[in-house]
Parts: sequence; C-alpha cells; structure tokens
Amino acid sequence: MMNVGVYYYPEHWPRKQWERDLGNIAKMGFDFTHFGEFAWAFMEPQEGTYDFKWLDEAVAIASKNGLKVIMCTPTPTPPAWMAEQYPDILMTSSDGKIIRHGTRQHISWSSAKYREFTEKIVTKLAERYGQDERIWGWQIDNEPSHYGLKEDYGDAAQVRFRQWLENKYRTIERLNDVWGTKFWSQVYSNFEQVRIPNEKELVLFTNPHAMLDFKRFNASEAASFISFQYKILRKTISKKQWVTTNFMAIYDAVDPKLNDDLDIISWTKYPVEGCNSGIGEEGFRRGLPYDVGFGNDFFRPLKKGKVGAMELQISQVCWGDYNPRMYPGARRLLLYHVFAGGNLFVCSYRFRQPTFNYEQNIIGMVGTDGVTPSDGGQEYMAFIKEMKILQNHRPKAPKEPKSYLKRKSAIIWSFDSLWATDYQKHTARWSYRNHHAGYYNILKSFGCPVDIISERDDLSAYSVLVVPALELINARLIDKLSKYVNNGGHLVLTCRTGAKNENGHYWEAKRAEPIWKLIGAEIEFFDNLPQNCWAKVRFGKQDFKWNIWAEALSPYKNTKVLATHTDQFYQGKAAVVSRRYGKGSVTYIGVESSGNQLERAVLKNVYQQAKIPIEDYPNGIIVDWRDGFWIAMNYSSEPFEAAIPKNAEILIGRKTLKASDVVVWSE
Ligand code: GAL
Repeated sequence: MMNVGVYYYPEHWPRKQWERDLGNIAKMGFDFTHFGEFAWAFMEPQEGTYDFKWLDEAVAIASKNGLKVIMCTPTPTPPAWMAEQYPDILMTSSDGKIIRHGTRQHISWSSAKYREFTEKIVTKLAERYGQDERIWGWQIDNEPSHYGLKEDYGDAAQVRFRQWLENKYRTIERLNDVWGTKFWSQVYSNFEQVRIPNEKELVLFTNPHAMLDFKRFNASEAASFISFQYKILRKTISKKQWVTTNFMAIYDAVDPKLNDDLDIISWTKYPVEGCNSGIGEEGFRRGLPYDVGFGNDFFRPLKKGKVGAMELQISQVCWGDYNPRMYPGARRLLLYHVFAGGNLFVCSYRFRQPTFNYEQNIIGMVGTDGVTPSDGGQEYMAFIKEMKILQNHRPKAPKEPKSYLKRKSAIIWSFDSLWATDYQKHTARWSYRNHHAGYYNILKSFGCPVDIISERDDLSAYSVLVVPALELINARLIDKLSKYVNNGGHLVLTCRTGAKNENGHYWEAKRAEPIWKLIGAEIEFFDNLPQNCWAKVRFGKQDFKWNIWAEALSPYKNTKVLATHTDQFYQGKAAVVSRRYGKGSVTYIGVESSGNQLERAVLKNVYQQAKIPIEDYPNGIIVDWRDGFWIAMNYSSEPFEAAIPKNAEILIGRKTLKASDVVVWSE
C-alpha cells in the first residue's frame, strides 16, 4: 500500500558491516533502501577510472535481504579532482565568489564541462544497473538546488541566460519592451550587453522584469539539468525501472512542474527544524500540519498521484537555530500524514547516524553504535507493523465518501506571482507563501481534500477554487476562471490578484481592471500599514484586524458587500465582495487579516452559501481519507475526540487523540 524505505551509505562504513546493517534494515521491516547520491568520489576516484565493484556488492547484499534498491546519480557531489582540474564546473555566488569543493551542490548547472562529466557517470551507472531487476528505481541528483545561495552567477550561467532570453524574445527590441528598459536608460542594443540582474554589482535595485526572467531562467536550468539526466537514463534503463528526483517541499528557486518528464515525483521534508513553529506547548517538537500537508497536496497533483515522500524526518537534525528532540509519536504522526496524502512510498534519511562530519548530530534509524534503534527507528518499526494491519483491512474498491468529495477544493500556486510579489513586496512583511498558507490551512480545517495546482490545470474537479494573490494574470486565465464559475464553480480571488500582466507590467488601465467584470467590483486602491498600527474591517457583527495588505473596493450593482472598512480615511468602503455568476459564485477578499481570521469567516460563508458540507476542526487537527481509511491526526497539544460513527471500525489508535496521536478507522 505504501512502501517504507531508508537511505544507506555503504561508502561510509567498513565493508564487513554491510551485511549486518542491511540485514538489520530488513529486520526492522523496511522494504527498500537508497544508495549513492553522494558517492561520486567512490564511483570515479580518478578521471575516467570507474569503480562500481563496491556498489555491486552492496546491491547484492541488499537484495539478499529482500530489499529493493533506489539507485541515485551522484551529481550533487563531484570528486575533488574535478573542481581542481576544471574549476569552470563550479558555481559563482552573487558577490562574485567561486564556490569551492568541500560541501555539496556547489556546481553550475550551466557548465558544459559539468554536463559532460554528468553524462559520462550517468551513462556508466545506467549501463551497469539499468537492466538489473534488483534496482527498483532511480533518483536523479539530490534536492536539486544551490541551498542558501539559490542562484549561480558564473560565466556559463551568464551565457546561457542570454541564450534563454534570445530564445524567448528573439529581438533585443522585444526584450527592451518587456523589461521596460526606457526607464533609467537601461536600453540594450544587443543580447551581449545583458547581465544577470544582481544587486551585488549594482548601486541600487535591479530591474524587476529582469529579476523575474532570471528566476524563471534559474528554475529552467534546474529542470534542464534533471531532464538531461533523465534522457540519458531512459536511453538505457529498463521500462520496469522508474526515475524521480527528490525536490524539497518547497524550495522557491526550483519549479518541479517543469519536470513533467519524470516518471514519479518525490519530495523531502523536515518539519522539526528549530524555527519555533508548532501548535501549543511543545508543538515545536512536531512542526505544523502545513509542513507535510503542503508537500502532499502540492506534489501529488503534479503527476496525478505518482508521488512518494523521499525524505521524512526521523529525529533531531543539525541545521536549525536549535534542534529539539521530537515529541514521542511525532514521526508516526508525520508518517500517517504522508500516507493520508496519497504517497506511494516513504523513505527517510538515514539508517545510521554518522559518527563524523557535518551531519554527525543527525540521528538515524539507529544511533552512533550502528545497531540500537533510536526513538525514531522504533516508531518506524511500529508504523511498518501498523501498515500491515491496514493492508489486511484494505477494501477492494474503496470509494471516496460523498461529502468529502463534494468539498474537494483547489488552490492555485504560481511561481511567477511568488517571485514577482516577493521581489516587489511593497510592504516588508508581505510573503506570498504566508498569504497562500493562510488559505491552505483554512481549507484543511474545513476537512477539504485539497489540491495545490497551477493555472494550467483542469479545474473541473473542484467545487471551490482559491486563487491567492495571483498578481500576474492574462486574458486566457481570466476567461478560464469565468468559465469555471459559469459552470458552477465557486471562485475565491484574493488581494493583489490581476494587478499586472504576465510580464509584470501594470495594465494600461485602472488597477486590476481586467478582473473587475469577473469579481463584480472595481478595485480602487490598496494600502499597507506600519507594523504596530492596526486597522479594522467588519464582517457580519465581527471586527477583524489587518495591517499587511488591504484594498478598497467599489461594488457593481448586483454585487454583495460582505465586509467593510470601519476606520482609516476610507471608512465605509468595501473590503470583501461576492456575487453569483452563472451557476457558481465569485468572492473577492481584498484583505490579509491578522491570523487570517477574516478570510476564514468569509470562506466558511462561501461553502455554506454553496451548500457544501464542511467540518470545523480545531487548529492542528487534520482528517484525511485514503483507500477506504479515515485518518485523523493531532498536531495540537490538546486532546481531540474524533467524530467516528458508531458502525465504524477503529483499526489503529483510539477515538480520543492525545498530542501527536493518530486514529484510523473505516466505515
Ligand atoms: C536533506 C538532504 C539530505 C540530508 C538531510 C539531513 O535535506 O537531502 O542529504 O542532508 O537533509 O537531514
């Protein structure tokens, strides 16, 4: 139902321990392992000299123990000789520093030389293991990214950026136009003059249109590096083997949607990483339901359910400001959440805690002695046993419960609007991600199954569609949204939506005028407040505070005003409006309120008006359905009593959930 696996690094341990370790992995109940993503120095110790004997042995031992293997390409970590002899494989930071060998992901995706070496090693691996039945699937690279540095500013990237631009715009006049280079005499006469926009080499701000294109380019370089490897693998490997990469959930410089060539999509998440987020006392020991929830609901729709969680936290990590112990039961909670989210497999980093180097404080399934299961390891073992119980109770043809299906909702996630609004925030506290997360959390508290989709996706399966802060829009999309509503969909648009065209220019029209007809109101202006100054909006009998973003609206005749500004010089103006439209409805929420309380009240109203049944779970409670099972999870610090019908069968856990508890039942 959901395979469970764990990473193992044979190259880290004496050969004589491999049998014991892989044997223990199997004994703990895991059914697959994962090799090689950082092992290039062992696969090609000298240029052109390859050594896979050690890996052959590890694969043989894994297989003898009944473990399937995910084989990885080692491209995040080239050997030292490569950086030494071919420094142009290295990335360059925005302040012009060449990033050296000594950690990982320090290479340039744009370097032709690096792609040459990549092609050779990936081909060798594909030739050696591509027809090997013991290899279940492949992972390309590891968390494709440059981590904290995000983008590469080296010479090869400069050249490929220019080529990307030329390919996109064809003529320099067109680029000048889209980048608005008339401003400050930025006009270019040819593509050779263009450099990657970089504040570190400018007196002041960069051009926002150039910035947006650079973000798009960088994401496309990542995607092209992955696709490059995918094609090499696919030339040689068997059809039975699948290929994925493990994207971070979610890294805002890489767009996983660009890799629709992958057979399976997978993702990584570490919710307890010392950033103080969590619900209630000791909530920081479990993280937020948003963490795994976003991973589930963002990645699953990308490949229509062909999705796995490649790395899920086992225990303490090492990179947070502080790195707390996880709450007892917390990884079991995360594991059930991944299961509830529809993942086909879950895997974790890593079996043995390393006794050396940077991640020596990251606890594995077993501790530093290499054999004693950690608290995390024990929870994984218990979970694997419980999965077997569920497997035995799995209904043959489970059908999604009607009321659950009826409230199936979607939220659009747009990298363009993320990049554009986060660069031109207009108020320092604007965050596209926080704004978006507010809506996601509300929908989950209503018990909705949620897909996080892109504007290109089909909308017909969703009774409610939320479009948060989609600043960049085009006529086609407005038309698509109108059709969605006409056909009975309930659309919620939020502040900043529609203000600009897809190049990030304001329309030569009134603010967001192209969406006025759809929302049934004019958007007069927007406002932001100082950090400690609050204004209010009234909805029904309740006042809601805001200070990050609000808009003043002027409704058309048949549009209902749901909420009104009650102070500031524009007191009395509309802040939230709603109207019937075709067979559906459109609601426009012009405010980001404190704690998203206004948004929650308005959304509740949307579902109620549309007669869509919803739940009202307390903060931290998630209830999802998968394969005939209801799964309720408690991320809060308070007990919660799940509403389990009398005739239901409780398969795992109890009706009353303590902090970090899970209950599974079938009806
Ligand atoms: C992940 C990464 C792994 C390892 C892990 C540590 O983000 O992919 O290689 O570094 O974090 O917890």
